[in-house]
Amino acid sequence: MVRGSIGAFATCDHAMASAILSDSKRFGSFAVAKHKPIDTTVHDDEGRRLIVPMDDSFLSMDPPDHTRLRRMVAPWFSPRAIRQRTETIEAMLEEILDELGRRGGWDAVNDLSVRVPIRVIAAFFGIGEDNYEDFRRWGGIIGTSVDGIRTMSDLRDFRRMLIEMRDFFNDLIVKRTAEPGDDLVSFMVQAAPEGEPLTGDEMIATCGVLLGAGFETTVNLIGNCILTVLGHEDVRQRLLSDPDLIPGAVEEVLRWDAPVQYLLRVTTEPVTMAGVDIPADAPVFVVVAGANRDPRVFGDDAGELDITRPNSRKHLTFGDGIHLCVGAGLARIEAAATLRVLLRKFPDLQLADGAQRRPTRVVRGMTTLPVRQPVAG
Ligand code: HEM
Repeated sequence: MVRGSIGAFATCDHAMASAILSDSKRFGSFAVAKHKPIDTTVHDDEGRRLIVPMDDSFLSMDPPDHTRLRRMVAPWFSPRAIRQRTETIEAMLEEILDELGRRGGWDAVNDLSVRVPIRVIAAFFGIGEDNYEDFRRWGGIIGTSVDGIRTMSDLRDFRRMLIEMRDFFNDLIVKRTAEPGDDLVSFMVQAAPEGEPLTGDEMIATCGVLLGAGFETTVNLIGNCILTVLGHEDVRQRLLSDPDLIPGAVEEVLRWDAPVQYLLRVTTEPVTMAGVDIPADAPVFVVVAGANRDPRVFGDDAGELDITRPNSRKHLTFGDGIHLCVGAGLARIEAAATLRVLLRKFPDLQLADGAQRRPTRVVRGMTTLPVRQPVAG
């Protein structure tokens, strides 16, 4: 645990990171911190407070509200529900890659990676293609906003997006209340009479956090997986000769090239950790990417990529404790299915020039990853 010059604390130690993430009583969410350096509330033109998915959803809540709201979405992420989705995801990938195969080169992020989670998330709400573009834009804005909003123009975009998203989900709630289907919004609306009813704002925040937490992160995981495989010929050859190694490879990419680099907590009371006194209301950075390379857990070669590493799964990329990512199983399936179908259809795919990293801090991945098929002969 180290103390930075601006009064913030940080750890890269795996045991300490895990302990902090598992102790939501003493290390609370930044969104509900008592003393915040800046006011993060946003209002519409009529002065109504706008729902900010990452701050107002169960992602930032403590029990019992966290338990009540997480329970609403949990059945949609059960191993059985995810297994049922696998076939649909692979069929969708076949279709996308058949289309891309007709081109000589394409962008593995914008033409492929973004299309997978957006369709999967839209399916939760029973939404079709017409809304993919909006979902993609909203998901992208929420994803980058976790770094903090730095310019007035970013704030304007963020506010406009929150209004559009609120209006969209409000309309959807009205529609599904009148005519329920077999989607998550209908489930939330129908489940309400059995337990404590969800408010409209809670439903909007729940829908928003699935988009906010499940889109950009998964895009980056898929992009990082493709970059790793195409950038390491030995890895490509091993996966081509034994596709059963693909889930382990995805796990190792999650550890080694984590799409979420750090998480932020705020102390709710004074805490002493590893001899360091941390006062109440202090920001604590849990550096997941560092903990994922802690030699005490992953050995002296923790910095190396090893797709058969027996304990890659001990990474903290999906967090820990009560907020452990509810979509982890789904993200794993999406990435593994992408690699499986991609390698089957394009075993010789190559990286092309022009790859660019995202200029973000919390999420790590590529904004663009051009690839091309080798010219025959
Ligand atoms: C929570 C990472 C994919 C939905 C989290 C947390 C992390 C994380 C680190 C905990 C945050 C914290 O403790 O502050 C990731 C990564 C993903 C991914 C790296 C992909 C590679 C998904 C997907 C979904 C999803 C696909 C849903 C469609 C959620 C939700 C939470 C969450 C709802 C809040 C859980 C709670 O508070 O109980 N995710 N996530 N995530 N994630 Fe994911």
